[in-house]
Amino acid sequence: MNSIAGKNILSLNELTKEEILKILDIANILKNKKKNNVFPQVLKNKVLGMLFQKPSTRTRISFEVGMFQLGGHAIDLSFADSQISRGESLQDTGKILSKYVDVLMARVYNHQDLLNLSTDSNIPLINGLSDSYHPCQTLADLFTIQEKKNIFPELKVAYVGDGNNVANSLIIGCSKIGIDISVITPLKYKPIPEAINLAIKNSKITGSDLIFTDDINGVSNADVIYTDVWMSMGFENEGDNRINTFKSKYQINKAVMKKANLDAIFMHCMPIKRGFEVTSEVVDSSQSVIWEQAENRLHTQNALLCLLLNENLNL
Ligand code: CP
Ligand code: NVA
Repeated sequence: MNSIAGKNILSLNELTKEEILKILDIANILKNKKKNNVFPQVLKNKVLGMLFQKPSTRTRISFEVGMFQLGGHAIDLSFADSQISRGESLQDTGKILSKYVDVLMARVYNHQDLLNLSTDSNIPLINGLSDSYHPCQTLADLFTIQEKKNIFPELKVAYVGDGNNVANSLIIGCSKIGIDISVITPLKYKPIPEAINLAIKNSKITGSDLIFTDDINGVSNADVIYTDVWMSMGFENEGDNRINTFKSKYQINKAVMKKANLDAIFMHCMPIKRGFEVTSEVVDSSQSVIWEQAENRLHTQNALLCLLLNENLNL
């Protein structure tokens, strides 16, 4: 019996270490099968509803492609094109969608909107990014780190820049697995207290070393250097203030990469603002694994969907 079936995945903290490792295992199996053009039809007759309040390239396409390849179907709906735009409540929307589809993925601004969508729904809800968390990204990140570094979990990740949704789920994921993580941000832009507290709790169980600092030298000894945009969707109006705060100390460039381990990899969830949070020189260097990281969104989400929708998964 698979304990992931039927869960809501909103921050990543809903999953145990064993469940996360199970998702990575299944992702590996599915990725290898795909290389041989084998697509287990384990989502036959299953339908994913996708509800977007914000733009997306990777999340939208990887979820739709994944459902198709595994024998299911995906329906893409934006807030603007649904009755939400005319005032239908998220509670009613979640309930009505659960009458038609088997699993819902939503991308929203306010994390509370996900809780509202799930209030009266009896199907799993996947957070496709909220202002607070991006759990699907972290699954792909952990899988990529595991693929590239083998010795997982005895590793150090250094996240540099804005303590945003990506950082919040990343500290939860790393602390669950037992990976050390240093979060290097201006003091004003640390991850949210809820994520920090969850990560501290997890780290007490797994022994993951968690450091929060504003000192860029925190990247020393890192096996992974990770950054994300300084202005997440919805924060564009803070542009100048943020650029002034981040640009002098928190850009990933060759000099910063040199402070980390020689074989450190560079990661970014994408989309990238080249020349801001990271230079093109680093993005296009041999240390950068961003393209596989993005590809791995597909494999890890496929694994997640298989496990959410099959109590007894048989690949
Ligand atoms: N990384 C990520 O979620 O990309 P999109 O915004 O393109 O979906
Ligand atoms: N932190 C970014 C991630 C985009 C995938 C944002 O929320 O815009």
